[in-house]
Amino acid sequence: MSRAEPLRIAVLASGRGSNLQAIIDAIEAGRLAACLPVVISDRPDAHALERARRHGAKALFVNPREYPDRESFERAVLALLAEHRIELVCLAGFMRILSPTFIRACPGPIMNIHPALLPAFPGLHAQRQALEQGVKVSGVTVHFVDAGVDTGPIILQAAVPVHADDTEETLSARILAEEHQIYPQAIQLFAEGRLVPRGRQVMILDAGKAAS
Ligand code: GRF
Repeated sequence: MSRAEPLRIAVLASGRGSNLQAIIDAIEAGRLAACLPVVISDRPDAHALERARRHGAKALFVNPREYPDRESFERAVLALLAEHRIELVCLAGFMRILSPTFIRACPGPIMNIHPALLPAFPGLHAQRQALEQGVKVSGVTVHFVDAGVDTGPIILQAAVPVHADDTEETLSARILAEEHQIYPQAIQLFAEGRLVPRGRQVMILDAGKAAS
């Protein structure tokens, strides 16, 4: 089912923002029926902010040091999300763990992208963890965010082979290419109303059958 208006998303990013760029490219190419009113970073030098500006999105640095604690920092972010009438929040390399209070108060669901086949290798340095464990296959997961770290219901995954001579860099690059494909796809499925959470599972409805 197509919506009358594009889905209003916000991206929260701390770094280079290549996933943000994949989302922007999908919007600009008409593959993603969304608009990006605002990108928020906790780092002033995040390249993601520059990418946002180039797209014409508002690029906002919210300085955690200006707030006495995590709660007040999160309240400032929540106020921006509400102000921009955001319906879906996309974490893309956002290096902060959001509190359960933030998740409850957020004006829409939150998605995250993680460079491993969850539930394997949550947390930091997922690609390094995969190499250390000697797995032959790894990949990427897009999931809804819950109160745990990389534990929320899985939306989409893509697998990549792990080669014997892989380094963290080569494996990360192979995974990243898949990240750039599936994050915009997952957001588009949400925009089409085709994602139906049932407990830990996310059902994906066939095209044309949106959840009511
Ligand atoms: C990606 O590997 C993503 O999976 C992880 O953080 C990295 C962000 O990269 N959550 P980028 O800033 O989107 O280029």
